[in-house]
Amino acid sequence: EQNTAIAIDGPAATGKSTVAKIVAEKLKYIYVDTGAMYRALTLKVLNLDIDPSDEEAVLEVLLETDIELTNESNGQRVLLDGQDVTNEIRHQPVSANVSYIAKLPTVRKEMLKRQQELAKDRGVVMDGRDIGTHVLPNAAVKIFLVASVEERAKRRHEENMAKGIPSELDQLKKEIQQRDEIDSNREIAPLTKAEDAIEVDTTSLSIEEVVDRILLEVEKYK
Ligand code: C5P
Repeated sequence: EQNTAIAIDGPAATGKSTVAKIVAEKLKYIYVDTGAMYRALTLKVLNLDIDPSDEEAVLEVLLETDIELTNESNGQRVLLDGQDVTNEIRHQPVSANVSYIAKLPTVRKEMLKRQQELAKDRGVVMDGRDIGTHVLPNAAVKIFLVASVEERAKRRHEENMAKGIPSELDQLKKEIQQRDEIDSNREIAPLTKAEDAIEVDTTSLSIEEVVDRILLEVEKYK
């Protein structure tokens, strides 16, 4: 039933969402950015002044929160209880706190349920950390993207500047490393390559080259 699903996982800022979006467009699949869901919840928790490690309180917020990902011609928009938070969820306070929220087991359980629902009965390209391992274990194609931390920080910095999001290169590098560390070492669904995932190092590849590499794998299942 997940034969039209493409899972793209990997550490922070390896280009997952950039290539996932293009692959989805080419295949006419929908694109689901699961990191945006954790980020939207984090934004709401911070705005409510709730402690990100207070699992019970965070779960309570999540259960009454509506997170919608829309696919528009100008890219994916993220709606938090109907409000457009597409840019705000990329800001530093969210990035610095999201991994603490994403490690809460009951929060992950609810997110997994929502993500599987989104992928039901349609073609989907989903990116995140645990898509190939937990959310869509039967995905037709699983990709695991990696890249050097220097390159990742540089790319994210340029992307932030282009979007007008405040950004500082050294701080970005630290924050990316810290997020990877927390994501890789959490108890539930840590960041790890699925056994049957294809690893692609994007450090010296162009966006186009990564997209072509993924489409080549997709072709095998068509
Ligand atoms: O993909 P992005 O970097 O926006 O994800 C933000 C954070 O959300 C990750 O660092 C991780 O803590 C969490 N996340 C997760 N599982 C996913 C997607 C994101 O734990 N499937």
